[in-house]
Amino acid sequence: MNFWDASLEDTVRRAGTLARRRPASRDVVDWLSLYDEDRPTSSNQGTGQLPFQRWFRFKEAYSPKFVADTIASLPHPVDRVLDPFGGSGTTALTCGFLGIDSVSLEVNPFLADLIASKVAAVRPSDLLRQYERVRASLEILPEDRVPPKGMPATMREPGRDGRWLFAADVFDTVRALVRGLAKVPSAERRLLRVLLGSTLVNNSNVVINGKGRRYRGGWQGRERTPRDLLDDLDVAVDSAVSDLTRFSVPAGSRHYVRRGDARVLLPKVDTVDLAIFSPPYPNSFDYTDVYNIELWMLGYLRNADDNRRLRLSTLRSHVQIAWRSTPAPGGSATLREALEALDASRAELWNRRIPEMVASYFDDMCRILSQLARILPAGRHAVCAIGDSQYAGTHVDVARIIEEMLPGLGFRLVKSEAIRSMRTSSQHGGSFDLREHCLVMERSS
Ligand SMILES: C[S@@+](CC[C@H](N)C(=O)[O-])C[C@H]1O[C@@H](n2cnc3c(N)ncnc32)[C@H](O)[C@@H]1O
Repeated sequence: MNFWDASLEDTVRRAGTLARRRPASRDVVDWLSLYDEDRPTSSNQGTGQLPFQRWFRFKEAYSPKFVADTIASLPHPVDRVLDPFGGSGTTALTCGFLGIDSVSLEVNPFLADLIASKVAAVRPSDLLRQYERVRASLEILPEDRVPPKGMPATMREPGRDGRWLFAADVFDTVRALVRGLAKVPSAERRLLRVLLGSTLVNNSNVVINGKGRRYRGGWQGRERTPRDLLDDLDVAVDSAVSDLTRFSVPAGSRHYVRRGDARVLLPKVDTVDLAIFSPPYPNSFDYTDVYNIELWMLGYLRNADDNRRLRLSTLRSHVQIAWRSTPAPGGSATLREALEALDASRAELWNRRIPEMVASYFDDMCRILSQLARILPAGRHAVCAIGDSQYAGTHVDVARIIEEMLPGLGFRLVKSEAIRSMRTSSQHGGSFDLREHCLVMERSS
């Protein structure tokens, strides 16, 4: 079921009318028609085979259809869109296809490269030539065998306590490829590094699930070799070459990717017509930890300090690192009650700092929304997909809390609609189904 329930052709026609620079609309319809419309548009489930989106399967993404539907539903023209939590670049890419300028902020440097790769004009022939060069000169040097200081000891065989993520020769091959990529021109290097990133988990001994990674059942019997890794990389490069040959983001629109913490970067962003985003949810999902394999193996993290700094720069939606907590913002009775209930059940919580995390999370969200109120002119919109959480029987009704805070932040709620239910994990304590909402907010005059 789609949120706006419009046909693809209608959505694209309407979104194209709202964009001042007319898109190559046949291209965007062709591209989006490869999206599986039966899947919830607020998830990435229908995008497994979608060109560009398949370069790296980012589980926490919404779909391009969600972005196109949102733009099509607006009562005003859209020239420039902001996504303060860019993730895998769904917003930027869809805007690119629609001929609309975009600004994406993203704290994770690997994901920032993924976004930049999707909107860059990389020639498929250049990509292939550079890749063939790197492959032809691939050679493992002694330095490739030495993990950088601070990298988790489990990353390379023999690991720790008999467990490791990568067989030694697979690890060394990845590091040699990353070294070889340093000589490649920047646009091709960025994309090739992203594609290498997309092969890592499959060639490791772990799978990513829920909130982190776990060892595969029987991983000791599933030896991966450098050959497997390189075969996967060949396939990934072939797919990207084929996507870039078949589609190109139409020239004419501009896309900026700003690397860093949205709380710090937003004060420097100028006027936009629309902000569309899905922030981290207050569900203790630690993005730095979940994408740790890509960050370390591809050289984005060079030491333990880099890792710590990155974790402290993400929204306070997790408890795995000691950020400084701040008081909960006012304006929401629902938040106050939830915090009282969490405080009363502190002893049952799997982490005692969860009440502070929830309070600090909403403080962060208030900072983000206050900045959006500065950036968006009156009558323009912010649209947000956001999910609830639950701890020891206390439901944190995120959409309702934000709705209650909106008037104090300079927004009027236009619409709040449940778009998906998400099964809770054991960390949430129960079989309760959590909801995801789409909030449509208008900047008040
Ligand atoms: C739910 S994902 C966004 C997914 C995106 N809509 C897409 O379709 O790919 C949230 C993103 O926020 C990023 N993030 C977390 N804290 C951030 C911060 N303080 N500033 C900027 N980005 C942040 C995470 O790295 C993650 O990529």
